[in-house]
Amino acid sequence: MEERERWGSRAGFIMASIGAAIGLGNVWRFPYICYANGGGAFLIPYFVALITAGIPLMILEFALGRKAQAGAPSAFARIVGKKTEWIGWLSLFAVMLIFLYYPTIMAWSVNYAVHSATLRWGTDTQNFFYNHFLQTSGGPGILGGIRWPILAGLAVVWIAIYLCLFKGIKAVGKVVMWTVTIPWAILVIMVVRGLTLPGAVDGLKFYLTPDFTALLKPNVWLAAYGQVFFTLSLAMGTLIVYSSYLPKKSDISNNAYIASLANCGTSFFAGFAVFSTLGYLAQSMGVGVPEVAKSGLGLAFVTYPTVIRLLPFCAPFFGILFFIMLLTLGIDSAFSQVEPFVAGFTDKWHFSKKWALPLICFFGFLVGVLFTTRGGFYWLDIVDYFTCTFGLCLVGFLECVAIGYIYKARKMREYVNEVSEFKIGKWWDVMIMIVTPAILGISFVWELIKLVQNGYGSYPRWTSFVGIGILVLIIILSFVLAKTKGREE
Ligand code: PFF
Repeated sequence: MEERERWGSRAGFIMASIGAAIGLGNVWRFPYICYANGGGAFLIPYFVALITAGIPLMILEFALGRKAQAGAPSAFARIVGKKTEWIGWLSLFAVMLIFLYYPTIMAWSVNYAVHSATLRWGTDTQNFFYNHFLQTSGGPGILGGIRWPILAGLAVVWIAIYLCLFKGIKAVGKVVMWTVTIPWAILVIMVVRGLTLPGAVDGLKFYLTPDFTALLKPNVWLAAYGQVFFTLSLAMGTLIVYSSYLPKKSDISNNAYIASLANCGTSFFAGFAVFSTLGYLAQSMGVGVPEVAKSGLGLAFVTYPTVIRLLPFCAPFFGILFFIMLLTLGIDSAFSQVEPFVAGFTDKWHFSKKWALPLICFFGFLVGVLFTTRGGFYWLDIVDYFTCTFGLCLVGFLECVAIGYIYKARKMREYVNEVSEFKIGKWWDVMIMIVTPAILGISFVWELIKLVQNGYGSYPRWTSFVGIGILVLIIILSFVLAKTKGREE
């Protein structure tokens, strides 16, 4: 059998895990999910989700990958048992859904980097984004033709993903040194400018004032867990495959603490840039912060351009810099979504990576065309909602059951403690066996009932059936692939 690839250094692995974690999820998704769930009201469930599920599951996935020395499906098959292999496949299909739409947001950034040169969005950034740039159609039922500039951006992004991955994991370890550090530096500039805008304080009040009544709303909890999973790249096979390239004797728990805290700190920090701008926008429009912008996944493309236009000097330069930041942030997350998918197939059937990688990249680009249409914005929203709300929570739940009960949490904890700098205590077993699966299970069922009753957002009912249909389909596909014989079985 071919020798497994290895990271060049521990730093390469940590930076790659941080790079996978920190991405558009921090500066694009976190602020709008936070905004849509009541601002400060969201922060408590978010941090609870980080402690109860984020960090414990990250430790679990690092341990599983390192122990199995294989991608998600083979890892479950080897360590927990052949019957659980399908959970690994399900996680790969969840990540596939994400890598189908995630590069589209990067394609928007490519376009916005170009528009920055002339600050084309003008003063009404909201109108520019929806009506001039996306030219959104009347709803998800009307695709309304391709937006060619977005499609061109998508092609650029997929070529970049391919180029980052084709030289193997050692090269990835080097690329991430840049793609992690450059964005941090730029984010600091955005935050400083945001904070010095008039009205910023109102935005920050909305962001930082906790609202305890929100704790009673299950949908806020589910959104928080979904966001933590998305942002830490959990339940998607990414961390399993990354840690499978670790040499024996590498640390697990300390790496997980470093990666998850660096990531969530970045989200929290990016929130200052967005909410201070929202405060400014609210003041200039004479309305309250909650009413100021269309909450939704366009939020970042409305707020950041506003700040950029208001920079006292070199605004176009900082605009270009900012969107390059989004791209560098996104690229290491995007390729971390493709790698586990490729590894899932190459580990089981020993396909040549030389062929599997370009084929999967091409497939991603082709399906991604859907999201570049005028109706694509709505589909992006729908697929993101179904994947992060139901898909990731379901996989997270199944992972906890498989490791907690079938493999046994205690056994895994002992394994982690053998090799880690920080020992984890019995609390970890409690999280994996009781707290995390209970919260995920209850919120999942609750949200499903609500979905069946009311549909998602203001979209027509049939879109919910499409969403549920896709989930059922990927579950069936996971079983089929798990049943299919691999090269070594
Ligand atoms: N964590 C990434 C972000 O916050 O942008 C997104 C992501 C990366 C999702 C890797 C899934 C994944 F496998």
